[in-house]
Order: sequence, then structure tokens, then C-alpha cells
Amino acid sequence: MADRLKGKNAVVTGAGSGIGKAVALALAAEGANVVACDLGGSTDGKGASAEPANETAEECKKLGVQAVPAFGDVSDFKAAEGMIQACVDNFGRIDILCNVAGIDRARMIWNMSEEEWDQVIAVHLKGTFNMSKHACVKMRQQRYGRIVNTISEAWVGTVGHVNYGAAKGGIASLTYAIAWEMGRYGVTCNAICPRAATRMTMGPEVLEGYKKRVESGLWSQERYEEVTHVATPDYLAVIPAFLCSDEAAHINGCIFGAAGAFFSYWAPAHESVIFGRDWDKYGPWTWEEVAKCVPTLLKGYVNPAPPEEEKKK
Ligand SMILES: NC(=O)c1ccc[n+]([C@@H]2O[C@H](COP(=O)([O-])OP(=O)(O)OC[C@H]3O[C@@H](n4cnc5c(N)ncnc54)[C@H](O)[C@@H]3O)[C@@H](O)[C@H]2O)c1
Repeated sequence: MADRLKGKNAVVTGAGSGIGKAVALALAAEGANVVACDLGGSTDGKGASAEPANETAEECKKLGVQAVPAFGDVSDFKAAEGMIQACVDNFGRIDILCNVAGIDRARMIWNMSEEEWDQVIAVHLKGTFNMSKHACVKMRQQRYGRIVNTISEAWVGTVGHVNYGAAKGGIASLTYAIAWEMGRYGVTCNAICPRAATRMTMGPEVLEGYKKRVESGLWSQERYEEVTHVATPDYLAVIPAFLCSDEAAHINGCIFGAAGAFFSYWAPAHESVIFGRDWDKYGPWTWEEVAKCVPTLLKGYVNPAPPEEEKKK
């Protein structure tokens, strides 16, 4: 144990498996006490079990820290408050919150049900808000805190799970907003955009789907090899752990790509080309003005999904 987080108390959601478990163990390996929160369901959010949270807490304890399990649903506002309070009740205060819990209900938008949309937004976006809100009340009072959220490359666009992509985009915006509101109180809020082999990305059903893409010609064998050659979460877990340290006090409102194979920085989106105009003089935009601006605004732009008829040309 390197003890770089000794004396810190952490809450980790989704700590029962995959990336959340690896993060909980990485924090414990650096000496942090851990509340391991998990609902213990399947990747699509069905079912529940206290066992995964219990197991992670036990594994953390073996690293020489204090650890307790917290069985609960992050999308439940009151349950989230209870999981944050468990950290204060057991260890005296909360220094670190890592929001990792997540599910996937993949479907194209025309097939997606209202329930599939609501559930994914509830676990990811509302869940991250719920946990952060309750943590921020305490972190603001104590003038110290570290929050690390979990997004996905799907936040900038995805196919097959608009609910998931929208939730992750929401968490990215939430991360920036919390960073701006809480920074002055000594609280940082950042996000990781991970890539790791877990049951969510490499479970039997997911692998079956990848194989079907190869069989149908949608993917080449090389693409399949590339997608499936991914390191396990323990390879990346020190990245969020570092963001929870005092060494990272100056890092606030940042999004980092994190995987065994890379550590990257996602610059914030910004307006890249701007046409200013004297609206007092010229009044509302006219159709002709808009049409004239478009080629300059979109110089170098490529439609990510052109109509199939156009692709054949
Ligand atoms: N694995 C990847 O490559 C990858 C890529 C991008 C983003 N992510 C994100 O990383 C996070 C972890 O994913 P993973 O791949 O480790 O998957 P995982 O399924 O192994 O872990 C998710 C954990 O969250 C828990 N959980 C789900 N709903 C919950 C709820 N309502 N309340 C409390 N706990 C709940 C699950 O029980 C599970 O233990 C997710 O937010 C996921 O979207 C993963």
C-alpha cells in the first residue's frame, strides 16, 4: 500500500463489479476507507443482490483499510442520501465520491420504450446527480472534496443506445457544472471516459453481437480484434484514484479518456467559427444570410450518417 490516500474516506458506486470494483480497490490500495455501493443487478438493470457490494468491501478490508458495503439504488434520491451518510456514520466524513454505477438498455430509437429511456437516464444521470448532491452538501461545509464521474465515448454520439449516450452527455455537462459551482469550496469534479473489458462490454451476449456483425459483413475481423482487445478495469483504475488525491487539487472540470492502452484529455466543446452581425441595424437573420454563412461555418465538416442513397453514389 502506497498510502497516498490515507485518512481519506470514499464512496464508490457500482463498486460490486467491473470498473467500480477496480476503482474501490485502487482507492483502498492507496489507504482510503471505502463505502462500496452497489445494487447487484444485471447489466440491463434487472434483479438485485447485496453480494457484490459485500464482496468488494471484504476485498478492500484485506488491503488494510476500513470498508463497508452499501446495498442501494443510486437512482433513488433517499437511498443515495443514505449511501453518502453511511460514509460519515462509519468513517466521520466523506472526502471522495466516485460515481461509476451504470446499466445499458440498448435499442435503436424507433424501438426504444419509454421505460428503457427512463431507466437508463435514472441510473446514470439522475443517479450521478443524487449521489453528488448529497455529497456536495457535506463537501461544501468542510471545504474539501473530490468527485469523479464516469461517462463514455457515447457522449459525443452513438448508435444503438440513444438513452445511454444522452445520459453520458448529461453527466459530462453535470461534471462541468458541479466543477464550476464547487471549485471555490475546494471541491473538484472531473470525469473519466473509460474503456475496459467488463461484463458490460465483453459479456457473452455482447461478444455474440460482435460476432454477428463480423458474420453479416458489418465488421471486418480486424475491427472485431480491435474492439475485443481491451484491458481489464484494474489497468485504468489508478487514473480516477489519482484524480481523488491532493496531488490533483488543481484539476477541476476535466474529462479524461482512461484505459490500459491510453490516458487522454477531452477538451471541452467550444464554438469554433462565429459570424457576428449588427442585429440593431439589420434586424432578424434572413434565410439568405443563413444560407450564405453555412459553407464557412461547416468548412471541413462531414455528415456522420449520410442517407444510404447518397453513400452508394
Ligand atoms: N466497460 C467499458 O468499457 C465502459 C465504457 C464506457 C463507460 N463505461 C461506464 O463505466 C461504468 C461501469 O461499467 P462496467 O463496464 O464496469 O459495468 P458493470 O456492469 O461491470 O458494472 C456496473 C455496476 O453498477 C451497478 N449498478 C447498476 N445499476 C445500479 C444502481 N441503480 N444503483 C447502484 N449500482 C448499480 C451494477 O450492479 C454493477 O456492479 C458504467 O457507468 C458504464 O456506463 C464502461
